[in-house]
This record gives sequence, structure tokens and C-alpha cells, in this order.
Amino acid sequence: MNQTSRDGFTSSFGVLVATLGSAVGLGNIWKFPSLTGANGGAGFLLVYLLATLLVGLPVMIVETMLGRAARANAVSAFDRVAPRGQWWWKSIGWMGFAAALLILAFYSEVAGWVYAYVFKAMAGQIATTDPQVAGAVFAELVANPLSSLLWQWVVLAVTGGIIMFGVARGIEAVTRRLMPLLFILLLVLCARSLTLPGASAGLSFLFSPDLAKITPAVVLTALGLAFFKLSIGMGCMLTYGSYFRDNQNIPLTATRVMFADLSVSLLAGMAIFPAVFAFGFEPAAGPSLVFMTIPAVFTAMPGGTLFMTLFFILTAIASVGAMLSLLEVPVAILSERFGLGRKRASLGTIAAVAALGVPAALSSSLTSDLKVLAMNPFDLFDFLSSNVLLPLGGIVVCLFVGWVYGLPEMARQLSNDGALRNTRLVSVLFLLVRFVAPLSIAAVLLHGLKLF
Ligand code: PHE
Repeated sequence: MNQTSRDGFTSSFGVLVATLGSAVGLGNIWKFPSLTGANGGAGFLLVYLLATLLVGLPVMIVETMLGRAARANAVSAFDRVAPRGQWWWKSIGWMGFAAALLILAFYSEVAGWVYAYVFKAMAGQIATTDPQVAGAVFAELVANPLSSLLWQWVVLAVTGGIIMFGVARGIEAVTRRLMPLLFILLLVLCARSLTLPGASAGLSFLFSPDLAKITPAVVLTALGLAFFKLSIGMGCMLTYGSYFRDNQNIPLTATRVMFADLSVSLLAGMAIFPAVFAFGFEPAAGPSLVFMTIPAVFTAMPGGTLFMTLFFILTAIASVGAMLSLLEVPVAILSERFGLGRKRASLGTIAAVAALGVPAALSSSLTSDLKVLAMNPFDLFDFLSSNVLLPLGGIVVCLFVGWVYGLPEMARQLSNDGALRNTRLVSVLFLLVRFVAPLSIAAVLLHGLKLF
């Protein structure tokens, strides 16, 4: 299939916003602050930064490269780039298929909470700086099985509706309008939080590391977050890469996306932690942290209701770009491999997510006692995808590129057939991908899961 007969991004800016739209999402605004809070703050941040630079970025670059070289979905790509007979590399694509569904099952629930909070903010129901009251409002929302499911379905209907329009008219058209807005609002929010009295305790929590808190499990969580944040290890960047234009500078695009994504996380952290300490919230509160502190930040400022509403609208927007990229992995596989047609592939994917989403959505009510590995379904899906499937997918991608695909082909692809002069950079990347990344991911994974 060549570029003209296949859907794809239409401009360099389109590539950038769509890829950034995939990276930036609830991972920055919800997951990053709650994991940083629960794992001791700055030490966690430091490990996360290292994991992003040494492992995340190289994997992101080669995954995107494979996609563009193959111009196919995450499974079929390996029919084209792997040597004849080595069918097993396609497991990367199938693992990605499974990871996408698992992530979507809990992600759509968190997005549902965000949608619900848009209305709660407008109605003034969350205008409080009292941790007790804020906690009760959140608990009431998640403990109600019917509203949990309904909000999840609203989210699936919205994103499912967009994904049906395809890559250029769906994903690109939506993300290019929404991404710029998100940055502006985050800056406003951050400025407000940093000028709160008592904000400095929050900043030192975020920026002065206590190395004693870094355990193997914490390192695995930081690595899992790096994968989750950059949407790698599950064929998502591979799928997006297959829609990149031939002359797109892949290493540069990936680096820009990584830095922009990191800035959004840090801005979200700087908006949330000062408020956590200023109002006496518990930094280790976990998934509910954002839903309690953000209302407090806004309630303490003039025009709070308006800003709070806008904030949740924009978080909802951020979740859209990420969910579209998650949906695109199974949708592309189903439509290209099984000839299903875009519409049927989208509907099938949404139906599968809705089914898998039921136990996740009910994790604070009906399924809260349904424990596997001591986790309810929501936590289990999160753990299995971020801390197991994504790192595992990352290892296999690295092994493929480092030991099968090889340096000459990688250099040809990343230099756009010699048009870019980046030979040295590519050699360094190759070493990272051949040795450093797979070995460190494997060590962290085995150690973090207590397998050795
Ligand atoms: N990167 C997205 C976020 O941070 C989540 C995501 C993970 C998207 C994996 C695609 C693939 O919200």
C-alpha cells in the first residue's frame, strides 16, 4: 500500500499535534501527579526522567520508524519489516492490541470522572477547599455503579464517533484544534497555584529527591509511566508512524513531543502539589488526588467556578487525543487485516472496550472485592498494561531493531534516505536500542515484579 491510497496525516504540523495529542492526556494530569505523590515525590521524578531519556525516547523513535517503513498496522507491519518466516515478531502487534483494550477500559472511566466533574464544577458542587468535603464528593461519584457506567459510555460514544472519520478527518482535525488551548490553560492554573501561601512545601516535595524512597517497585512504576506517557511499547507509535509523511524528521518530532509532554506533566505537578500542601491534602491519595486538589486550587481564587469548569473541559479534551490513539491500534488492525471497513472496526473496538470497561468502572462499587493479585479490576488493568505489557513490548521492539533490523536499515530510515545528516545520532541511538534499553527494561521488569 502506498501513501496515496492509505489514510494519513496531511502536514508536518498535523503529525506533531496528533502525536503530541497521543502523548499528552490523563497520564500527565491524573497519573503523573498521583504516582509522584504516592511514590515519594522528587526521587520518583528523577527515575522517571532517566527512564524517559534513556529508554523512552529511543524506543519512541524506533517504533515510529518501523511504522513508517512498513506503512501498516501494528501486526501487519511485521509481515513487511521482519525476515520471511519470522512470524513471531507479530506478537508485538497482538500484545499492543490487548494492551490498548486494557488501557482503554480504565482510561475511559477516568475520562468519565473528568466529564462528570465538568458539570459538577459548573453547578458549584465541588467549590470547597476542605479535604473531607472534596473526598466525599469524589467517593459518591465512584461508588454509584450506574453513573460510573453512563459516564464511561458517554466518553466511548464521543471518541468512537471521532475515530470513525479516520486519520486525517478525525484524529488530525480534532487534535489540531484542541491542543493549543490546553497549554494556555495549564499556564494560568500553574501561576495561580504557585502564588498560594505555603506553596513552597509542594515544590520541595516535587523537586528535592529523597533517594531512600526508591525501591525496585518504584523504579518499575517510573519506567511503566515513561512508556505510558509516550504511548510506546504497544504499537501505538508504530501505528501513528505508518501515517507519517515520508519527509518527516522522526528523531526531531519524537524529541519535541517528549519535551512538550514532560512540560505538561511538570506544569500539572506544579499546579497540584503546592495546593496539596497549602490546603492539607494527602499527597499519597492515589487516583483521587487530582479530583480533590484541583477544585481546591480554583475555589481559592476569584472567578474559580469559571476556571474550574474550563480546566475540566480541557482535561477532557486532553483525554480525547490520547484515547483516539489508543483506539487507532485495534481499529487499524481490524480494518486492515480483516477487511472490516473503518466503521465496523470502530464499532467492534468500542463494544470490546465497553465490555471490558464494566468491571473497571464498578471497581469502587460492585467489583471492589473482586481481587486478583490483591488488586481490583481497575488497578489490575492499569498494572498489567503499564507495568507488564508496555515494558515487555518495549523489549521486543528493541530486540527486533537492535538484532534483526540492523543499523544500516535504521540509518537509512531515520535519515529519510540520506536527506538528513544524523549518522552519529543514529549510531548512539542504535547502541541504546541494542543494549542499554532492553537490558535495563528487563532488569527493572524482573526485579520490580520480584522475579529475581
Ligand atoms: N500517553 C497517554 C497519556 O498519557 C496514554 C496512552 C498510553 C496513549 C498508551 C496511547 C498509548 O494519557
